[in-house]
Amino acid sequence: MANRGNFSGRIGFILAAAGSAVGLGNIWRFPYLAGENGGAIFLLVYLCCIFLLCYPVMVGEIAIGRSAASDAFGSYSKLGGRKWGYLGLFGIIAGVLILSFYNVVAGWAFGYFLHISFGDLLSEQNFGTFFGTYVNDIIDLSSLGGLANSNLLFSLVFMVLTAVIVSQGIQKGIEASNKIMMPSLYIILVGIIVYSLTLPNAFSGVKFYLIPEFSELKIQTVVDGLKQAFFSLSLGMGALITYGSYLSKKENITSSAAVISIADTSVAFFAGLMVFPLVHFLAYKLNINPQEIGTSGPPLIFVVLPQIFHEMGPILGRIIGGSFFLLVCFAALTSTISLLEVPVAYLVDQKKMKRTTVVWLIALIIFVCGLPSMMSMGMIEWLNKLSFYRGQDFLTFIADMSDICLTVGGCLMCIFIGRRWGMANMDAELTHGNDRYMASGVRSYLHLTIKWIAPILLGFLSIVIIVEKFFGIENLF
Ligand code: PHE
Repeated sequence: MANRGNFSGRIGFILAAAGSAVGLGNIWRFPYLAGENGGAIFLLVYLCCIFLLCYPVMVGEIAIGRSAASDAFGSYSKLGGRKWGYLGLFGIIAGVLILSFYNVVAGWAFGYFLHISFGDLLSEQNFGTFFGTYVNDIIDLSSLGGLANSNLLFSLVFMVLTAVIVSQGIQKGIEASNKIMMPSLYIILVGIIVYSLTLPNAFSGVKFYLIPEFSELKIQTVVDGLKQAFFSLSLGMGALITYGSYLSKKENITSSAAVISIADTSVAFFAGLMVFPLVHFLAYKLNINPQEIGTSGPPLIFVVLPQIFHEMGPILGRIIGGSFFLLVCFAALTSTISLLEVPVAYLVDQKKMKRTTVVWLIALIIFVCGLPSMMSMGMIEWLNKLSFYRGQDFLTFIADMSDICLTVGGCLMCIFIGRRWGMANMDAELTHGNDRYMASGVRSYLHLTIKWIAPILLGFLSIVIIVEKFFGIENLF
């Protein structure tokens, strides 16, 4: 086990785990969910979910990995017996599912980055129509927006980038790339926010985002907030078990997890602070009510934002728009790396295969698994309207299944810690690197949450999502 690889220290681990957490979930999904769920009230619910529920789950997950020093399957089997190993396997499969569709969306963002920076996407007349054509023609190599439009190619390049980094190993690949991409991401984000706050009507967007309207609070808001918090922190599928397994016993897990949660939450928060002023600026420019701008759903960053960059004029639009999509690519890449590492670690640890071989093999398999998602945006009719899934497309289906896997995985993980591995073993692991842990209030809080609150709430949430998704009871409450 000596040559599994390890992070060089606390900073390397924190940046890599924060990189896994910060992703499309923060920049692509969080703002539109906030927009759909009343802005500030959603933010408030989300913060409660992160700190009351997700933080303890994150600590538990890292502790499992570091204690066993193995991949997700190996960790559960080592600490709880072979049967529990299947829970690790379930997480690994969830990771493969997530990466298959995640890489497709990352490919769109990568293409938008190229089209805006070097092509003439911003001179489009109708961004909605453009996006529809763009995601539909996956292998159209003819010129669209001045550049070849091939989602197949873009997402292939994205997967290759991910594989190149992961094949370099923990320190030289994962840690080194995160050390560059994460700080750059923050700088770009802050830069765009500062600029967007100078635009006319920006503060009306800030108000919508920051002043809660309590009458908007619904159970659906809580369900969406919890689901999003879980996805955003990369919990429930073994990514943090795997990263934790490369962490030295000298490091303090409870404080590292706090920094990771804050880093992730701040990016989601800032992404909202970037998007809402922009949306309100657009409303001002078009002389319409901000509510009339469809901020709901995935098209937010691919349709509404490009229109805003267009309004900024050809040069500024290209700079701000290009930087924005570069930011999205960095965020996505630091997450795809962690998603690929989960199955890779499994095969390297359990089957003793060579890292490079495994990386390319799995990257290829996952890329192929992503093809149906890619073709489900209009190219293939039946994939676009799944008959067994209420006429929704395949990409949405896989994304929804991943949400279910994560909450079910997280619920079972808490049951594993509380009832099988034991709270005492978790405590012993958390004492390494933190001598004061046993007497701290954090300990009682972790016990209460991991043993009781989290498994009950996550179990309930999983049932709600399954009923909601499969039986078509949208907005169950
Ligand atoms: N946390 C990532 C995001 O917010 C997605 C992710 C989920 C990554 C699970 C790894 C594991 O985009």
